[in-house]
Amino acid sequence: MKVWGKYSSTTPDHGAIIPGIVDKLKITGGARLNGTVQIGGAKNAALPALAAVLLTDKPVELQNLPGVRDVRTMLRVLEQLGASVRPVEDRCSGVHVKRLASFEAPYDLVKTMRASVLVLGPLLARYGRARVSLPGGCAIGERPINLHLDGLRQMGAEVSLEHGYVEASSQRLRGIHFNFPIKSVTATENLMMAATLAEGTTVLGNAAQEPEIRDLAEMLISMGAQIEGAGKDEITITGVTELGGTSHEVIPDRIEAGTYLVAGALAGEALELVGCRPDDLEPVLQQLRQTGVPIVVEGKSIRVEKAQHLEARDLRTAPHPGFPTDMQAQYMALMTQAQGTSLITETIFERRFMHVGELQRMGADIRIDGHTSVVVGPGRLTGAQVMATDLRASASLVLAALVADGVTVLDRVYHLDRGYEFMEKKLCALGAQVERIR
Ligand code: EPZ
Repeated sequence: MKVWGKYSSTTPDHGAIIPGIVDKLKITGGARLNGTVQIGGAKNAALPALAAVLLTDKPVELQNLPGVRDVRTMLRVLEQLGASVRPVEDRCSGVHVKRLASFEAPYDLVKTMRASVLVLGPLLARYGRARVSLPGGCAIGERPINLHLDGLRQMGAEVSLEHGYVEASSQRLRGIHFNFPIKSVTATENLMMAATLAEGTTVLGNAAQEPEIRDLAEMLISMGAQIEGAGKDEITITGVTELGGTSHEVIPDRIEAGTYLVAGALAGEALELVGCRPDDLEPVLQQLRQTGVPIVVEGKSIRVEKAQHLEARDLRTAPHPGFPTDMQAQYMALMTQAQGTSLITETIFERRFMHVGELQRMGADIRIDGHTSVVVGPGRLTGAQVMATDLRASASLVLAALVADGVTVLDRVYHLDRGYEFMEKKLCALGAQVERIR
C-alpha cells in the first residue's frame, strides 16, 4: 500500500477534514484483521536525528521519516532556527543548516512537542548559545528536564531559567563524566549530541539503552563523531572540532509495530507486519508470547493472529531492554480480554493511566492502586464515546474499540496523529471499520 506522497512542515494531519477542526475516529468493532501492514520509521528516532542536523553546516539527508505530526513540528522548529528543509517525499527529506537565523525554539512549538528540547545540546555545542522554551507539564507525568540541564552545566554551560525559557550559553563545551541518577532517553541523546563537539572525552554512566539511542549514535558516527557503547549502560564520546553531512535511514518504529501486534492478538486472522526490526521488539514479543499470542518472526516480518487462549500476565514497565512504557496502555487493552487478573505496574511516568477511565467507560474491569492497575478479564467491551488524552492512551482506545460491541467514537484524534501515520487507513486496509469524522 502506498503510504504517502509529499509533505512539509505545514502540511495538515493526513486525512484531516478541515485543518484546526478536531477530528474524531468512528470505529465499529468486530471485524477480523487480515493482510499486511507496513511499519513506518520511528518517531522517537526521527526527532533526535532531525535535531542532530544542527551539529553541522553540511546538508543531511534523512530517509524513512514517519509522516506524523511530531516530525512536522520538529521540521518547523528547524526552519524557525534557519534550516532549509526540502519537503519530505517518499519518506525522505534533506535538511541543511548553512547559517543559523535564530537561537530560539519558541513556546508555541515546544508546548506542542516537548522533544523540541533536543535542540538544546546541538545548539550549545555548535553555536555556544540556545534559548529553548521549557516544555511545561504533560498528561503522563511531571517530566522535568533537570538532567539535561545538569549535564550541560557540568560541561561548562551557563544555564538559567527566565520567563519560561531555558537561556544557555557557553564557550566550547568540555568533556565530563556524568552518571544519570535515573535513565532518561532524551537527556542521554541531548548530552551525547553535545559531547560530539566538546573538548575532550565524555562518559555517560547509567545511560538509557533504547534502540533509538543506538540509531542516533550511528548517524552521528557517520557524520564523523567518535562514540562507543551506545545502546549499553555506559557511552563514551570523544569530542571532535567539526561534523560533516550524512545520509541516514531512520530505524523502524518498534512501538507502532507493537501496537499492530496487539491489534493482531485481539482481532487478527492472518496479520503480517513488514519492515520491522524484531530484535528491538524483543521485550514486547516475549511478554505477548507468555500470554499465549501466536507470533512468528521471519527476517523483517512478524506474523501474528488472535490468541485462542489469552492468559492474563502481570507486567512492569522499565527502561530498555525492559518492557517499554510506550506499550503499557496497548497491553492493558489486550489484558481486558485475557483469562484472569493481571497487575500492570507503571514505573516510568507517574500519571500514565489516563486510558483507564476511558476503558472503564467501554466496560473494562480495571481499578487503579497507586502505580499499579488491576485488570480482570475477559470482559465484554461495548462501543462508547471516549476521549484521547495522550498518544499511547489513544492507541489503546482504538485497540479496545476493534473488539467492542458496536460503535466507538474517539475524540481528540490529534493525539494519535502525533505518533501514528495513517492509522485509520492502515486498519481499514486490514479489514477494520474505522472512519475519520468531524
Ligand atoms: C522518551 O521520553 C520518549 N520520547 C517517550 O515516548 C518515552 O515514553 C520515554 O522516553 C521513556 O521511554 C521521545 O523519545 C521523544 P525519559 P523522555 O527522560 O526522554 C524522568 C511516546 O509515547 N526525568 O526517559 O522525555 C522523567 O520524568 C513518548 O512516544 C527526570 O526526572 O523520557 C521520567 O519519569 C512519550 N529528569 C523518567 O525520567 C529529566 O531531566 C524517564 O523519562 C529527564 C527525565
